[in-house]
Amino acid sequence: MDRESDILAAESELYLPPAEVVAQAYIKDYDEVYEKAVQDPAAFWAERAQTLDWYEPWETVLDKSNPPFYKWFVGAKTNIAHNSLDRHVKTWRKNKLALIWEGEPGDQRTFSYYRLWQETCKFANVLRSMGVKKGDRVTIYMGRVPELPIAMLACAKIGAVHSVVYGGFSEQALADRIEDAQSRVLITQDGAWLRGKTVALKKTADEAIHRSPVVEHVIVVRRTGQDVYMEPGRDFWYDELMTLPIASPNCQTEVMDAEDPLFILYTSGTTGKPKGLLHTHGGYQVYTSTTLQWVFDLKEEDRWWCAADPGWITGHSYIVYAPLILGATSFMYEGAPTHPYPNRWWKMIENYGITVLYTAPTAIRGLMRFGDAWPNRHDLSSLRLLGSVGEPINPEAWRWYHRAIGKEKCPIMDTWWQTETGGFMITPLPSVPLKPGSATRPFPGIEADVVDEEGEPVAANEDGYLIVKHPWPGMARTVYGDPDRYIDQYWRRFQEKGYYLTGDSARKDDDGYFWVIGRIDDVIKVSGYRLGTAEIESALVSHEAVAEAAAIGIPDELRGNVIWAYCILRSGYEGNERLIDQLKDHVRHETGPIAVPAKIEFVNSLPKTRSGKIMRRVLKAQALGQDVGDISTLEA
Ligand code: PRX
Repeated sequence: MDRESDILAAESELYLPPAEVVAQAYIKDYDEVYEKAVQDPAAFWAERAQTLDWYEPWETVLDKSNPPFYKWFVGAKTNIAHNSLDRHVKTWRKNKLALIWEGEPGDQRTFSYYRLWQETCKFANVLRSMGVKKGDRVTIYMGRVPELPIAMLACAKIGAVHSVVYGGFSEQALADRIEDAQSRVLITQDGAWLRGKTVALKKTADEAIHRSPVVEHVIVVRRTGQDVYMEPGRDFWYDELMTLPIASPNCQTEVMDAEDPLFILYTSGTTGKPKGLLHTHGGYQVYTSTTLQWVFDLKEEDRWWCAADPGWITGHSYIVYAPLILGATSFMYEGAPTHPYPNRWWKMIENYGITVLYTAPTAIRGLMRFGDAWPNRHDLSSLRLLGSVGEPINPEAWRWYHRAIGKEKCPIMDTWWQTETGGFMITPLPSVPLKPGSATRPFPGIEADVVDEEGEPVAANEDGYLIVKHPWPGMARTVYGDPDRYIDQYWRRFQEKGYYLTGDSARKDDDGYFWVIGRIDDVIKVSGYRLGTAEIESALVSHEAVAEAAAIGIPDELRGNVIWAYCILRSGYEGNERLIDQLKDHVRHETGPIAVPAKIEFVNSLPKTRSGKIMRRVLKAQALGQDVGDISTLEA
């Protein structure tokens, strides 16, 4: 069955939640809670905020005086590191496991709340000793190791703003992000394990620093033991610093304003320059902890596994902050899902007794390829809920996940959200009936809709712009250093109505269920990772042979989309197989493996509007053999 007809079939498929799931769910009646929240969102969020600690209470829950720069819990003093760690070590949770970690080679480490708190305090003191102060930016470029959450929490604790750059990015992407944030300190590791090989993170970091020399100090976590260059006076080993007297476990948590910045996370947009979304301490902690608790119904006894990368918003919100705020036990795994065999994940679920698994459709499709025999070798009966995020999940993959992994007893929480939103926005709760491929309905306190060009709601089953009508506490506050871009990108389109533009298209069915279709801007989702066409194009034109380039996303069964690129060569260069390989290598080097086009074609011209904009829509229609539509604005 093709994807379209599969979705049509899925619309009339309804999976009712098992009675035992509803019986223990925090929220048993979605409609009732949703209605109450919609009546008075400020009161709803204030009630949720009461579940956390605040050094001083807020004066105003929501300040709407300067849209779209909304403020939450104005006047309150807090620190997310206090709610994640400090408060737990004063209770019985001191001895509870916060983190269980397995490395790709099979090594294991565990951290009680006490130990995680202690390591964080020590490292926070190390950072302070290097002169890192409240408001300073620290870039973190690491793999999935426990020192990554420790580094993030240490920054939060002293009021520094972390900027985690995904370890799969290459030197130029890292250099751009260091430069934009003006980070004087970089935290990295010698190398990371991936598919039985090592990824040379420190080497890439060295090259990035060469391109962006603002970095004064580099802290290197020893992981693989590979040889790395250490520049005297600039580079320090993490383990050595942590044994010095300055690394004392006594560390005062910085008192932060609720609206003080917590982190910057760069994501792809419509221009080549990555945008740094800025999130804050106060609203973010309320939003991420509430959404995690209600959607994944997290209980003290759970073993939660969010299999994302911490370099992604999913990891920030749901590996690091929200689970810790809730006092949960998390599992984290370093490497590839299929290493050394395709049963690695299922084996770990059995070994550790994982109860809730949250992952991406691309991983599900990748593992589904290997068939049922691999999961069937393992006892997966500890699982009680499953989750999906990052791109629309095709109903076929949804059904496999539900049957082969969840054994038809674990509801799947298909959570739609974005780097910009901080946490889940459109998502089922465990008590909500499911349709495969639909993220169902908005979380309580969120008003979302599908609208036309004028911002008017479209009829049921019609496509339109996915928008959000009312501010929420977890929303990004701005684009770091570029507030105009924040307005232009998200708020300009429906300025009069005050709607937040998500950049996605969607439709609602007759039951009010949302079906997210995908991006409508120049953003491509490849294996769930978000890439801007402009980023790929600028990587290509930075090669001496390329004069102009255009990149488009083409649907792919496994990865959601793959990139196809069209290049116009400079005179004197010949478009052959060797050059294609060189260009792929070049993109891998400049941006990262994820951005490498699956196909590169050499052309003599690109379809452009009269104002000179590349019409990617035309290229895509041509590539898919579809009608190219109205091209009257095309350059003559
Ligand atoms: O297109 C939507 C898609 O991912 C985009 C956000 O990407 P990013 O900021 O990298 O954050 C991903 C993790 C939260 C959205 O605009 N997306 C995310 N989740 C879903 C989704 N599309 C459909 N269904 C989802 N569950």
